[in-house]
Amino acid sequence: MKNRVLCFLNTLFLFILSCDSQAVIEPTTSGYTCSLNQTISPCQTYVYYRAASPDYLDLASVGDLFSVSRLMIANPSNISSVSSPLVPSQSLLVPIQCSCNRINSSLSISYAGLNYTIKKDNTFYLVSSIQFQNLTSYQSVEVVNPSLVPTNLSIGENVIFPIFCKCPDKAQVENQTKYLISYVFQPFDNFSSIARKFGSTTQAIIDVNGNNIKTFQTVFVPVSRLPVFTQPVVAAAAPTAPVSVKTEENKDKVRGLSVGLGICGLLLLLVCGLWGYRETSMKKKRGKYKDEEKPQVIQKKKAVDVDLMDDVSDCLDKYRVFGIDELVEATEGFDEKWHVQGSVYKGYINGILYAIKKMKWNACEELKILQKVNHGNLVKLEGFCIDPEDGNCYLIYEYVENGSLHSWLHSSRSEQLTWKMRLRVAIDVANGLQYIHEHTQPRVVHKDIKSSNILLDGHMRAKIANFGLAKSGCNAITMHIVGTQGYIAPEYLTDGVVSTKMDVFSFGVVLLELVSGREAINEEGKVLWSTVDGILEKKDGKMERLIEWMDDSLRTGESNLLDSVANVVSVAIACLHRDPSRRPSMVDIVYALCKSDDLFSDLSQDFSPGMILAR
Ligand SMILES: *[C@@H]1O[C@H](CO)[C@@H](O)[C@H](O)[C@H]1NC(C)=O
Ligand SMILES: *[C@@H]1O[C@H](CO)[C@@H](O)[C@H](O)[C@H]1NC(C)=O
Ligand SMILES: *[C@@H]1O[C@H](CO)[C@@H](O)[C@H](O)[C@H]1NC(C)=O
Ligand SMILES: *[C@@H]1O[C@H](CO)[C@@H](O)[C@H](O)[C@H]1NC(C)=O
Ligand SMILES: *[C@@H]1O[C@H](CO)[C@@H](O)[C@H](O)[C@H]1NC(C)=O
Ligand SMILES: *[C@@H]1O[C@H](CO)[C@@H](O)[C@H](O)[C@H]1NC(C)=O
Ligand SMILES: *[C@@H]1O[C@H](CO)[C@@H](O)[C@H](O)[C@H]1NC(C)=O
Ligand SMILES: *[C@@H]1O[C@H](CO)[C@@H](O)[C@H](O)[C@H]1NC(C)=O
Repeated sequence: MKNRVLCFLNTLFLFILSCDSQAVIEPTTSGYTCSLNQTISPCQTYVYYRAASPDYLDLASVGDLFSVSRLMIANPSNISSVSSPLVPSQSLLVPIQCSCNRINSSLSISYAGLNYTIKKDNTFYLVSSIQFQNLTSYQSVEVVNPSLVPTNLSIGENVIFPIFCKCPDKAQVENQTKYLISYVFQPFDNFSSIARKFGSTTQAIIDVNGNNIKTFQTVFVPVSRLPVFTQPVVAAAAPTAPVSVKTEENKDKVRGLSVGLGICGLLLLLVCGLWGYRETSMKKKRGKYKDEEKPQVIQKKKAVDVDLMDDVSDCLDKYRVFGIDELVEATEGFDEKWHVQGSVYKGYINGILYAIKKMKWNACEELKILQKVNHGNLVKLEGFCIDPEDGNCYLIYEYVENGSLHSWLHSSRSEQLTWKMRLRVAIDVANGLQYIHEHTQPRVVHKDIKSSNILLDGHMRAKIANFGLAKSGCNAITMHIVGTQGYIAPEYLTDGVVSTKMDVFSFGVVLLELVSGREAINEEGKVLWSTVDGILEKKDGKMERLIEWMDDSLRTGESNLLDSVANVVSVAIACLHRDPSRRPSMVDIVYALCKSDDLFSDLSQDFSPGMILAR
């Protein structure tokens, strides 16, 4: 009897013990323990990551998440082009630096610590399970960041996410195990399918991980060399409609596609909502604005909607997050002294001068676009700031010291731009436009090219600014017209057709400004582009008409200057063609302008202007 009770108690005790010990050993809680003397640590290893809609469908964003370059993912993943888009669930191998980290006297965990900046609505749990796809756990994040209060995270806070990993021990190395790849066990997985995927064996996986793996737990797959994945071929021009190759992934793709379409729909709704909002607010103000209802005022409409900040927070991947107090301090509370123009201020933050632009709802589009582009002739975005109190968003750019081209051309400055400088500006802007038109995926249309959106740096090199109206991707027709009078392409005004050719038109107007020194639209409301038509038409007196039309300060009488100017005017006229399809592309324009540059630089050769204009 006594024995039985003892036995019972014993079992109970064992049961409690085993429950308890399971709770402690359960690896996904605080992480995988390690001892420094056993493993070869630190080591370089890899995690298996699945491209995921909507934020992680390109190597750049996955690279940002793991602080590695695109190439460092592309090479081990057997992806040939770093810029091509990914399809949802596409297999990636991301390199990490794994090490055994001592937490306290009794606990060391093996992980790769990744810096992550907290964004709106992030929690340790959500970032671990969504962004990092369960390659870590929120409990482990808490252990590794003991000073942070998980329930009180602030946007912009830096958190170390411990990505689970293991380094092979000496015995494993001797047994040809080069890497232990971190892989999250999926609902559809079994050991043999994982072994096949990575070129390992079921037994080897069980040896390392035990037999009791739960779904979404990390398993370490021992391999002697990296597996080579066969990657789907993705048509570079159509990121949302991948050409399918693998049959087993089709389901996921369809899901990804519908998620994508869902998001598009959501955005459409959003745009419609804003449109409706704008319409009603316009109606209210119609009395006031009756005679100045010009397209250019639309950008300034007050459409503050705090919900939209959610949308904004999605596009904040790789920028520095500034605090509102930093901005207030830098600008002395947005003092007039630091005002540049419009909603733009400047200020020193940590000794560096920045331009600070206050935005409303349209910040998101600009952020999304700017994070895709990076070119010397585009103004660089450095960071952003969201003021939680009034829902304002601030974009922080590099400060471009010499101000806008508009101010150089049209305000009474003592210094004038020489023809050489103007030509340089034209080529710089053309290069920037060529980049956004030809080398971004999807193509970006700036939609508001004008001399006040072209800034000149300390070396008088030009940079395109203000992507606030820019569009990327699919929508070819827009319902609301934005842009600036005098620069807007006629087909856009009448039909709302958005294409790269509307930037070409506006660029043509900028060329005319550079040559004539006149405003794109004069006091009587006459547009500059309508005045250039006759100038080069008849051969007789062409040069005289050109000299008459040119900026006074350029009339120096150098004959090669006139040739060069005439060439630029002919490029401008081609850009201003009424039929968008007959306008040249930016590639052609860059080429033609470089020719003008050669013409002007090369004094030794005597070109016949007629020949150039016949081009
Ligand atoms: C490694 O260190 C632990 C204590 O930190 C010790 O218990 C263990 O025996 C050591 N193992 C080896 C292989 O030296
Ligand atoms: C993470 O951030 C800290 C400080 O912010 C920095 O010292 C460390 O080098 C960063 N680590 C990585 C891997 O970027
Ligand atoms: C991570 O695990 C949770 C359950 O713990 C699951 O709901 C979620 O879908 C997983 N995330 C991914 C990306 O698989
Ligand atoms: C070590 O840290 C772990 C996790 O934070 C904790 O559970 C444990 O009690 C700590 N041990 C000691 C001896 O401080
Ligand atoms: C949350 O954090 C902020 C600053 O990070 C601090 O001022 C505040 O007191 C914290 N609140 C709680 C409840 O801990
Ligand atoms: C090495 O691998 C073989 C087969 O994969 C296994 O039988 C053996 O136990 C391993 N040795 C060690 C030391 O892990
Ligand atoms: C493992 O999964 C594959 C399909 O993914 C299936 O064909 C196979 O029968 C499964 N093996 C076991 C042992 O369940
Ligand atoms: C690497 O990917 C290409 C397609 O991008 C594929 O043709 C090739 O077979 C892959 N390599 C291996 C070893 O699977």
